[in-house]
Amino acid sequence: MSSLPESAATPADRRVFFRTFGCQMNDYDTGKMRALLAKDGWTTTDDASEADLVLVNTCSIREKAVDKMHSALGEFRRMKKQGQPLTIGIAGCVAQERGDELMAKYKDIDLVFGPDHISKISSMVDAARSGERVQDTEFLDLANYAFVADVDPTAHGVSAFVTIQKGCDNKCTFCIVPQTRGDELSRLHGDIVAETRALVGRGVKEITLIGQNVNSYGLKQAGEITFAQLLYKVADVPGVERIRYTTSHPRDMGDDLIQAYRDLPQLTSHLHLPVQSGSNKILRRMKRYYTREHFMRVINALRDARPDFVLSTDIIVGFPDETEEDFEETMTLMEEAQFMASFSFKYSQRPGTPALRIKNQVPNSVAGARLTRFQNRQRERSQIYHSNLVGDVVNVMIEGPSRHDEGVICGRTGTHVMVNFPGRLAEIGKFMDVRITRGFTHSCRGERVE
Ligand code: SAH
Ligand code: SF4
Ligand code: F3S
Repeated sequence: MSSLPESAATPADRRVFFRTFGCQMNDYDTGKMRALLAKDGWTTTDDASEADLVLVNTCSIREKAVDKMHSALGEFRRMKKQGQPLTIGIAGCVAQERGDELMAKYKDIDLVFGPDHISKISSMVDAARSGERVQDTEFLDLANYAFVADVDPTAHGVSAFVTIQKGCDNKCTFCIVPQTRGDELSRLHGDIVAETRALVGRGVKEITLIGQNVNSYGLKQAGEITFAQLLYKVADVPGVERIRYTTSHPRDMGDDLIQAYRDLPQLTSHLHLPVQSGSNKILRRMKRYYTREHFMRVINALRDARPDFVLSTDIIVGFPDETEEDFEETMTLMEEAQFMASFSFKYSQRPGTPALRIKNQVPNSVAGARLTRFQNRQRERSQIYHSNLVGDVVNVMIEGPSRHDEGVICGRTGTHVMVNFPGRLAEIGKFMDVRITRGFTHSCRGERVE
């Protein structure tokens, strides 16, 4: 037991501040924590200086993400040192992977827990606030794992995530996720459909099914349906206008999934399909278990099923043993596959991952130069893609205010193109025809068609 400052807040006015790093899984998990804490009377604040509890939901996918966690923690620990009665908790992937280290290093941190323990947040926070230092970073047996059904009370908008699985059974050699999220487990399809219905009841029109390898949904569990079958079930929920999913693995894109693109108008014509590299040698070293040729076959099949199909991807440059020729193959794949957008990263060494043992680690300066080259070309491609839309009339779903201009709202096409155009917030959730007037790198400008 340590002598932590007791907050003066009563249950009625307890305030929690969240700082969330990382991927869609972490965003979703933060929503679940908010939902569970709300049942105990916690409200969310956007201002850490008025919080009683700060929860940092962390990511360890690259070293940079871990650095961001340390600087965020520095800020909150300073506030505590200066007298704010603050309980500080670390959640997410760094907590899972380095729980012991964090507990030892930061004596003023009250709570460290991994993603498997979110369903117990209420009792963990209570214990931490009564002065106990709490650490829960053991993986649960899959039989004891509980997906949280409660829906984030502050969720608003027309688009929402629904998790369909936890963990990952792949062992890509660069990736830390298997260490931070544990073994894969699929959520019961009935629960996924129920959460979808609950969200639609709150005005959601676009559902994004999330997991680290959604294609393998259900395969491990006897009697569960497949991912393609799940898409049909979600499409059956009245009010679901658009369905998206992330992340899928190029190895596992089966014919049944491609057929779903023929059958389900709700399934949008944009897919984010991370390829990582255009070199078969590097893909082998990454243990991705597909070739460039397989990847092209998959996307060509998708383009046959959906002529307006649009693709985005993730790329790692500077993976160990990547030669100039290997990198060139990634550059040519960008042209051949016609990525509309991509997230590209310099390879980052992650503790405990097999890629650390590959000889010929690529010097940082070489990887940096490759990244710049890749990103410059991608920017050009994205700009051309958006400019080519000028004059087209597209149908968008209005999602919210434009980030930059007042009186301007933004919507997305089924191909995930963001279009900003004059409009009112009251129109959020509506579908509207818009003529594209300008194309930029990440979005378009448009005007409504009367
Ligand atoms: N499950 C997804 C990816 C999740 S991580 C998939 O299999 O595609 C998101 C992205 O981060 C990955 O696609 C990869 O491009 C990048 N990434 C993962 N580990 C990385 C590392 N060690 N260094 C650089 N980028 C990495
Ligand atoms: Fe990481 Fe590979 Fe799993 Fe994606 S599929 S989370 S890259 S191990
Ligand atoms: Fe990061 Fe964990 Fe997601 S490592 S990318 S938050 S699964």
